[in-house]
Amino acid sequence: MTLAWVTASAPAKINLHLGVGPVRPDGYHPLATVYQAIGLLDEVTVAPAPTYSVTVTGDPRLTLTDVPLDDSNIAVRAARLLAEHAEVHGAVSIRIDKGIPVAGGMAGGSADAAATLVACDALWGLASPRELLMELAGTLGSDVPFAIAGGTAVGSGRGELVAPAMVQGDYWWVVVESPEGLSTPAVYAEFDALHAGSPVADPVIPEALMEGLRNSDLKGVADAMGNDLEPAALRLRPELGEVLAAGVQAGALGSLLSGSGPSCLFLCEDEEHAVAVVAALRDAGLGPVSMARGPVAGATVERTG
Ligand code: C5P
Repeated sequence: MTLAWVTASAPAKINLHLGVGPVRPDGYHPLATVYQAIGLLDEVTVAPAPTYSVTVTGDPRLTLTDVPLDDSNIAVRAARLLAEHAEVHGAVSIRIDKGIPVAGGMAGGSADAAATLVACDALWGLASPRELLMELAGTLGSDVPFAIAGGTAVGSGRGELVAPAMVQGDYWWVVVESPEGLSTPAVYAEFDALHAGSPVADPVIPEALMEGLRNSDLKGVADAMGNDLEPAALRLRPELGEVLAAGVQAGALGSLLSGSGPSCLFLCEDEEHAVAVVAALRDAGLGPVSMARGPVAGATVERTG
């Protein structure tokens, strides 16, 4: 059956631990990270078209103007890559409906690339193995393979190598967005500047974090969470320190900068607790504030027509 269009979703990612090692000769940093996919989703709709194009819709507070609308958009690159690989002739129009903060350290662009790969795969009737899509994803960006995999996973290499992790339970997160995004390369460059002249150890994942996740021990997870990019991001945006402190003051179990920032994350006991923390942070004048549950599935076809 020929499809007229396909809509796929992909989730935001957070890093429960982001261990960063010394910069590699290729400019990337070796990572030891624990990813979790959470229920903030972007949706991507693809349809056959004479040329590649991309449009973006969604909540304007997600600073949609920062999303490139030309061939440099990672979703266009994803569609072209799969077409080339599968020898598909013809192009697609791509509509991205954003639910993930733009430049927030939650891999929104990577989610769009992952959703586009899965959507085009269905549109073109390719039925590619997941492993092939993940391999192509790794050439598009370090976080794209995880956006396909979803769940909770250990990431290594520059983040593109993912292995599922043993996890029990639900994790409720409160997310405080920032009015202005942060550039990932700028935060990594600040990390290098902070460590100039002193050796950086190879990154490792704390065993206490994995144990907490296996046992659904929320307090254990909160105590073991960490992000090596936090000092660098705080140097660029000192006010984020106040946001992180406000979440703990509002009763969250623990606080964490998301990826390279600037979104801040707060782990809560359960849904009810998350609702209370959201209210307290809004009362404190912070925002935009939202909540999401993890882990959720990776890129998925939602609807076809
Ligand atoms: O792989 P991706 O395109 O998402 O990476 C964006 C930028 O983030 C890279 O150009 C690099 O500056 C930085 N980065 C890094 N080490 C990683 C992942 C990303 O230095 N492991």
